[in-house]
Amino acid sequence: MALNTRKFINEQINKIKKEVGNGKAICATSGGVDSMVCAALAHRALGDRLTALFIDDGLMRANEPQEVIRILRRLGIRTVLINAAKDFFKALKGKKDPEDMRKAFRDTFYKTLGLAVKRFNATHLIQGTIAADIKETKGKIKSQHNVLSQIGINPLKYGLKIIEPLVTLYKPDVRKVGKALGLPEAICQRMPFPGPGLATRVVGEVTPQRVSIVRRATLIVEQELKNLKPFQAFAVLLSDRATGIVNGKRAFGKIIVIRSVESKNAMTATPTRIPYKILEKIQKRIVREIPEVIKVLYDITPKPPSTIEYI
Ligand code: XMP
Repeated sequence: MALNTRKFINEQINKIKKEVGNGKAICATSGGVDSMVCAALAHRALGDRLTALFIDDGLMRANEPQEVIRILRRLGIRTVLINAAKDFFKALKGKKDPEDMRKAFRDTFYKTLGLAVKRFNATHLIQGTIAADIKETKGKIKSQHNVLSQIGINPLKYGLKIIEPLVTLYKPDVRKVGKALGLPEAICQRMPFPGPGLATRVVGEVTPQRVSIVRRATLIVEQELKNLKPFQAFAVLLSDRATGIVNGKRAFGKIIVIRSVESKNAMTATPTRIPYKILEKIQKRIVREIPEVIKVLYDITPKPPSTIEYI
């Protein structure tokens, strides 16, 4: 059944008002459509009693912290930057198993939010978890960073009471709600970006150096595919290396995968049919601009059997 966005918005605003009462709340916004719509809803309900946090976990794309904070402030939402990159890299150190990495990310994320709730004298965390996040986590596909109570983890463990206004929606309806709330098109149609950020695109240990490679490659992929408007496009750094020749000498360098998919709600996906010329341009730019990389691949696997991200 088609979502009645007006009714949904009013219901959620009333719910937030009722639960928070005269208290204060925080929300964490990565700049993705889910967390931005959640922040906008919560802001309508609470005004300045809401503080939006942008947690810089060191895993964001190029220029992302500055851009997201600028957008939030332009929307009139009180916004604070929390620099927690050190904590996240410490938690991820030495971890190579995808689920270990995801759990370490989740734990650090909620510990950071638990501290923030105290710091801002807030009573609640309002978060933009959506139906797909819960389905994949409960289905044991992968532990999404923003799912706790649904899998038996009590948020009070982190000192948090959580409100989840978008929990019944999938991505297309979240975008509709964003539009009805008057959010700019650039936000409503923004490419999904996962909570654990570039960590989901680093196979093997997540270190600042390895994230920096994937960040630079992602920027190139996004720039070159912008006109194709894929559902989601990015670069991935593999843990293997490959032999190459640089200036006539043997090199043993890094491997980058280009991933670009078409999808409606991220539950299934098909690879984008990127024209070969564009693939070639991306390859040339990546090896030229990121000298550590010796090989560039294009992933043509749909979901299923693959997932969209790599961990
Ligand atoms: P997968 O890789 O499972 O991803 O096919 C499906 C969609 O979800 C995003 N994704 C996440 N989003 N927290 C999020 O907020 C997460 O932990 C997470 N893991 C994956 C992914 O980017 C894709 O759009």
